[in-house]
Amino acid sequence: MNMILKGDICYSKSPTELETVENGYLVCEGKTVAGVFAEVPVAYRDFPVADYGGCLIIPGLCDLHTHAPQFAYRGLGLDMQLLEWLNTHAFPEEARYLDANYADEAYSKFLNALKRGATTRACIFATLHTPSTVMLMEKLEASGLVSFVGRVNMDRNCPDYLCEHSAAEAYLSTKEWIERTNGKFRNTTPILTPRFLPACSDELMGKLKDLQIEYGLAVQSHLSENRDEVAWVRELYPEAKSYGDALDRFGLFGGKDVLTTMAHCVLSEGAEEDLIRDNGVYVAHCPQSNTNLSSGIAPVRRFMRRGIRVGLGSDVAGGCHTSIFRAMSDAVQVSKLYWRLADQNDAPLTIPEVFYLGTAGGGGFFGKVGSFEAGYEFDAVVIDDSSISSPDAPGLEGRATVGDRNAEIDNSAAVGRYAADNRSTGVARAAIPDRIARVIYLYDDDCVIDKYARGERIVR
Ligand code: GUN
Ligand code: FE
Repeated sequence: MNMILKGDICYSKSPTELETVENGYLVCEGKTVAGVFAEVPVAYRDFPVADYGGCLIIPGLCDLHTHAPQFAYRGLGLDMQLLEWLNTHAFPEEARYLDANYADEAYSKFLNALKRGATTRACIFATLHTPSTVMLMEKLEASGLVSFVGRVNMDRNCPDYLCEHSAAEAYLSTKEWIERTNGKFRNTTPILTPRFLPACSDELMGKLKDLQIEYGLAVQSHLSENRDEVAWVRELYPEAKSYGDALDRFGLFGGKDVLTTMAHCVLSEGAEEDLIRDNGVYVAHCPQSNTNLSSGIAPVRRFMRRGIRVGLGSDVAGGCHTSIFRAMSDAVQVSKLYWRLADQNDAPLTIPEVFYLGTAGGGGFFGKVGSFEAGYEFDAVVIDDSSISSPDAPGLEGRATVGDRNAEIDNSAAVGRYAADNRSTGVARAAIPDRIARVIYLYDDDCVIDKYARGERIVR
């Protein structure tokens, strides 16, 4: 859609710098950002304007790792560590997605939460059940959000009630699911999803590589999250140099033709870290999950210094909150503890850095996503931060022209709106970077008043 959003615009110019334009114009041409301007350029004068005066407009947030079927029990069992938590909570809950009625209700709740928040893109694990995974994909497609969704593969070291009983059967079911979904949606794409290496036999991994080659699919999994898990992989693959190397031997760990994201990487170091960088693997940093399950703190400052690609993940239900703003503030907070307690060479992450990770950092996995530079896909979130600003800030009410909160994009109104200079209220408002910081720490879903993905408004 051709349109212009007007408001206080903020996006990352680089991992350390925010670009801001107060009362600016964000132009969408088709599905793509044409640019951010202080005045509407002549070429776009006939585009309709949605006036969000007084609100912040930022790129859509990217959740690089979450589990849709774990949403329904988030917050439960978090006094356990990973392997016990999987057996006690995650596996029994995921088994329920065999039941289409349960899946329908639970996935609808997950979708409602995702639509309400500031996320426009997500990498999602479903379960090993094909029908409910397809149902989840249909719901995502109907939402307008953009996602990768994985039917989960697991054929060993998991309970009988949630296990593919042979690699051959897993291959056939996965192929059938890919045939049903690959290229069938505009915004929803299948992604190969071996749960984690201890749950996938060598034969299954080999067959997933065959499917990866045949369909050119992306890959998501978990890596080096927990000490017992890493020790287990070392036992299973004594010849491998690292957990990542064991995955790489199956050809499912990045590289030129295998777009890959790995969740956690809390314990990645040395040769594994080099392989993550050299293979262009995206790390999905999930600070809340890593805290809840006592997994540890991923060395994100070091990853960034070494040129590793990093985004943020909610990892529901290891993490309890779907919000990537929450992942941003958690990422800052755990990085401070890491710096104070583990390695004083690795300075804490800053607000511009975590804002970058949650937008353009993870956005790279989806293409040209997560920025308002010209040529990026148009994903935008409009945030009314008046409820968290100081009493003397003008807020929405103080504006000469109040943004139409449910802005139906209306061509006739548009011209009048941007012709009238509503910039000056006489009261200084906090600078945009300070407002962004406060949103990151204090946000709730009610602050999001509108959002757009690939140039289309998400109905919420
Ligand atoms: N490793 C294997 N499965 C899971 C899961 O469901 N959640 C997390 N956090 N780690 C995992
Ligand atoms: Fe996970």
